[in-house]
Amino acid sequence: MEIQIIKTENPKEKPESSVLGFGKYFTDHMFIMQYSREEGWHDAKIIPFGNLSLHPASTVLHYGSEIFEGMKAYRRADGEVQLFRPIENVRRMNNSAERLCLPQIPEDDAMQILDTFVSLEKDWTPAAPGTSLYLRPFMFGNDETLGVHAVHHATYVLIASPVGSYYKEGINPVKIMIEDEDVRAVRGGTGYAKCGGNYAASNRAGQRAEEKGYSQVLWLDGVERKYIEEVGAMNVMFKIGGEIVTPKLTGSILPGITRKSCIEVLRDEGYTVHERLLSVDELGEALKNGTLEEAWGCGTAAVVSPIGELCYKGVKYTINNGEIGKVTQHLYDTLTGIQWGKIEDTRGWTYPIR
Ligand code: PLP
Ligand code: COI
Repeated sequence: MEIQIIKTENPKEKPESSVLGFGKYFTDHMFIMQYSREEGWHDAKIIPFGNLSLHPASTVLHYGSEIFEGMKAYRRADGEVQLFRPIENVRRMNNSAERLCLPQIPEDDAMQILDTFVSLEKDWTPAAPGTSLYLRPFMFGNDETLGVHAVHHATYVLIASPVGSYYKEGINPVKIMIEDEDVRAVRGGTGYAKCGGNYAASNRAGQRAEEKGYSQVLWLDGVERKYIEEVGAMNVMFKIGGEIVTPKLTGSILPGITRKSCIEVLRDEGYTVHERLLSVDELGEALKNGTLEEAWGCGTAAVVSPIGELCYKGVKYTINNGEIGKVTQHLYDTLTGIQWGKIEDTRGWTYPIR
């Protein structure tokens, strides 16, 4: 595909690594392209970063037709910049698009967009330990009518933000509250899609948890309110009696790329990993009888985050003395080692930006 490039005349000053946080600063440019049923995807261009202008009746503003992805560009130890399993994000975005009746993007085009854009913004990839350039592709429906129907017009945008750690705790254990009132998604709904609406529906519980001093909530399934699903921005894994257990992909949780990578690393190393239903009662039992050895969350933004405390119905449970466990640390070291180019990538997961 042809991508027009219009460079900014006012490049911004890049922030110091120490102030980055998550998603507060944005690079000099953004990619944008338009879709219509008649023309397909067209008008692909990289332009100076700036505001979007939308018709007040635009579909996304009323009916939430929006999907997004989250991935990172990493500054390798040797100074080069690389992506981690970008094709997985491209495919997941197309699956999300299918669910929300938004247009899909041919894989080659999506890869070309990522490659061209990151290559232009490469200098924005920070080098300090734990930092990266977070990439946020998103797509929304923008028909200029209030009728409710599958979209005829859409816009795809890619922005980038130099980031540090997602949680203020960094790699230190986070406290998570098990939510027993609100639900995030149900089978047959949009749980497996990365759409904005899932996050909007999560906000109330997230806010209540934060007020009580917890970083995020751990969702239970929407039907029986019994089975562990995932955390607000990450999938979860547990080490119980020497084996790894993670909720299986039933359609209501996001199929995380970090989750998939953790499972592959663990299985390669001989661990038994069960992808199955795990009830909150079974987890509670494992906490009480001491077989729950470790718990962690995994996601692009959060990387691998140890869970040091779980709270359920007002009762607090400490995990592994609130310390990071061996498997958690090992997964963190392995994934970040590959991502930051400190460990050899034997699986073909990395994608160099020239
Ligand atoms: N679950 C939710 C709800 C998320 O927002 C994320 C983050 O993207 C994940 C899981 C982890 O997915 P991934 O590892 O692909 O980033
Ligand atoms: C990510 O890990 O990329 C996410 O999308 C999480 C997020 C909602 C901040």
